[in-house]
Amino acid sequence: MAFVDKALEGRVALVTGGSRGIGRAICEALARRGATVIVNYASREDAALATAAACEAAGGKAATVRFDVAKSDEVDAAIKQIGKDHGGLDILVNNAGVAVNGLVMRFKNEQWAQTMDVNLAGAFHCTRAATTMLLKARDKGRIVNVTSVVGESGNGGQAAYAASKAGLIGLTKALAQELASRAVTVNAVSPGFIETDMTAEHLPEAARAKLLEKIPLGRIGAAAEVADAVAFLVGPEAAYVTGQILRVNGGLLM
Ligand SMILES: NC(=O)c1ccc[n+]([C@@H]2O[C@H](COP(=O)([O-])OP(=O)(O)OC[C@H]3O[C@@H](n4cnc5c(N)ncnc54)[C@H](OP(=O)(O)O)[C@@H]3O)[C@@H](O)[C@H]2O)c1
Repeated sequence: MAFVDKALEGRVALVTGGSRGIGRAICEALARRGATVIVNYASREDAALATAAACEAAGGKAATVRFDVAKSDEVDAAIKQIGKDHGGLDILVNNAGVAVNGLVMRFKNEQWAQTMDVNLAGAFHCTRAATTMLLKARDKGRIVNVTSVVGESGNGGQAAYAASKAGLIGLTKALAQELASRAVTVNAVSPGFIETDMTAEHLPEAARAKLLEKIPLGRIGAAAEVADAVAFLVGPEAAYVTGQILRVNGGLLM
């Protein structure tokens, strides 16, 4: 059930990795609530433009911006420019992520570094660059980090990914404590298995069937269901919610 009010009217939101999957659904959900949405992407400009068009069709304003969250100089320059172009920033959703899978005994340094640089350092870079503007937004200031069920449960073959997502949970809680005195809230949304390009690439049919047996609600989730949780956390209804991990996983981990 999607939010249909305009509670985010006048607020500027940056969604990293907004071009596809969960990020795209988050962009659309925030636009539906009236936000101006900045859609970040790494390489798929076509997909980012399609997201921006969907945001405008949903009733919000949208712009696209390319930067690699792993590169702090690109992040700093892009977020500074967003502040200039849009008069500030109220909401940051750290959603960009990669899943690089493999057993630890065969995992390469570069694979470990890529996972950490995008999933964990990426959120740190964006947060650091945005914090001054978020503090100015005071009680409208919001950060939501997209972690994962495996950040809490672990998962064989996903040690780097799980470690990066566990790190995001620590980052969320520490930041929530740092920014609370200015009424800026920091939370995480933790999806279970959601139908996107990421799961299509990494979840073969047999593994999918096995997984379904473990999910009490008996189905894989939709990106829009994660987006609705984010739309709640960035809205006025969640002003007294901070430092929390909201699990959207069909009961996979309770
Ligand atoms: N799908 C799931 O089941 C699931 C479960 C738990 C958590 N998550 C988390 O949810 C988030 C979104 O996942 P998804 O399934 O929607 O993934 P996806 O379909 O693979 O999309 C990934 C998005 O991240 C962007 N991206 C990747 N590397 C980037 C970088 N270095 N800088 C900026 N943007 C970058 C991509 O941009 P381009 O389009 O330009 O490539 C794309 O928009 C991730 O953090 C993921 O770990 C997903």
